[in-house]
Amino acid sequence: MNNYLDTYGLREDPFRITPDPEYYYPSQEHILALNLLNYTMEQREGFCLLTGKPGMGKTTLLKIFMERWKERAEMALIMTPRLSPEEFIQALLDDFNIKYAKMGKNSMLKAFREFLLGHSAKGKRVAIIVDEAQNLPVETLEELRLLSNLETDKEKLLQIILVGQPELLDKIESSQLKQLSQRITIRSHLKPFKEAETCDYLNARLIKAGSGVSIVDAGARSAIHRGSGGIPRMINVIASRAIMAAYLKGSPVVQELHVRIGKGNGGHLDTRIRRINAWIREYLPYCALFAAVLVVTIIAVKYMRH
Ligand SMILES: Nc1ncnc2c1ncn2[C@@H]1O[C@H](COP(=O)(O)OP(=O)(O)OP(=O)(O)O)[C@@H](O)[C@H]1O
Ligand SMILES: [Mg+2]
Repeated sequence: MNNYLDTYGLREDPFRITPDPEYYYPSQEHILALNLLNYTMEQREGFCLLTGKPGMGKTTLLKIFMERWKERAEMALIMTPRLSPEEFIQALLDDFNIKYAKMGKNSMLKAFREFLLGHSAKGKRVAIIVDEAQNLPVETLEELRLLSNLETDKEKLLQIILVGQPELLDKIESSQLKQLSQRITIRSHLKPFKEAETCDYLNARLIKAGSGVSIVDAGARSAIHRGSGGIPRMINVIASRAIMAAYLKGSPVVQELHVRIGKGNGGHLDTRIRRINAWIREYLPYCALFAAVLVVTIIAVKYMRH
């Protein structure tokens, strides 16, 4: 495997799909979303909603955001949010290190409010961050709305950041959650990269991993963009396989062909699908005519028998 990296002057695999902050690429979309997250904290807004298709970099962005705020804020990150309201509050208290053994829900909420007031007095922010928030049950989302009512006369004591796939938005817009939806004024949706950004993203990763950008040619870049739809996780998967395909073919440069081979032996498959499509396009009118004649003949024969 080392040979493969050496061949292309790489220190490490540039396209691993773990959300490694070292490889963070600040696209226009990611910058905008990060600004909104920062604004939510600075202005002590109640809610912020961040959505994006799977693989668009939501979790990666959260890591960057949390790193930047770790000195100035207490943050609870809930990553498995399929929790009932009560379980959710327990998870929060666990994360914030608040003792709640043998407490009922009301006492737990009281302890939480005291925690919030204590931090507010020290000028520290407190944030609840829910990743994969599309999995939150409706009742737990409603509980979050109630939590966000914890405030002083002047300011919200708590910032709540909901991050999830696009169905999160549908859930929040549903008639059951109207009150919550009205409170979420800060919203950001990460859109897939345009082709130029996919190229910059590829370059940034190749350079970070120690290689020159010229190991992937222009045709391969376009093909990676088309194949991935501009979704970073898919860019990584396709680029990684393409480099491997180029290596196995002994090519010093990754070309479009390697991208196609990498996409599940796509080279051959694509050609076959294209051939079948061409065949259908050429012969479809004849097939339709033949079927029509057949149907008319069958009807005529039946009619004559009667
Ligand atoms: N801005 C970025 N800079 C660098 N790498 C990124 C960026 N966005 C995404 N990636 C890459 O894409 C992969 C998928 O990103 P991430 O896990 O953050 O997506 P996600 O939106 O949280 O997906 P899911 O909805 O499946 O949880 C990351 O592991 C990382 O390798
Ligand atoms: Mg994620």
